[in-house]
Amino acid sequence: MTADWVAVATTKELSRRRKLRVELDGVAIALFQAQDRVYAFADLCVHQDRSLSRGTLLHGKVICPGHQWQFDLETGYEADQDRCQPVYPVRVDESGTVYVNPTPRESPLHTGEEARA
Ligand code: FES
Repeated sequence: MTADWVAVATTKELSRRRKLRVELDGVAIALFQAQDRVYAFADLCVHQDRSLSRGTLLHGKVICPGHQWQFDLETGYEADQDRCQPVYPVRVDESGTVYVNPTPRESPLHTGEEARA
């Protein structure tokens, strides 16, 4: 399967607020920067469609401005709700261009957890 990486932003644009809302194939994506890494989430919260790019980045979690659900930065998993926000693969090249793959990563709710059950 070929991954179609799409350039959506630069780390310079992202570094100002450490979060940025971009569009990819008509889908809103929230980018976050933490510890020199970039993460991409579906911008609209799985709960009630509030914009995660207006949320807060705290202790490895993205906190939704709607009802403060806390999504794991790596996986998008919300432990209290047992729900998952779609997250997208990201890569950054040497010049600081941020690329996102428009195919969301597999949700942890439907991978290892079930295999182990
Ligand atoms: S809309 Fe995100 S927690 Fe309710």
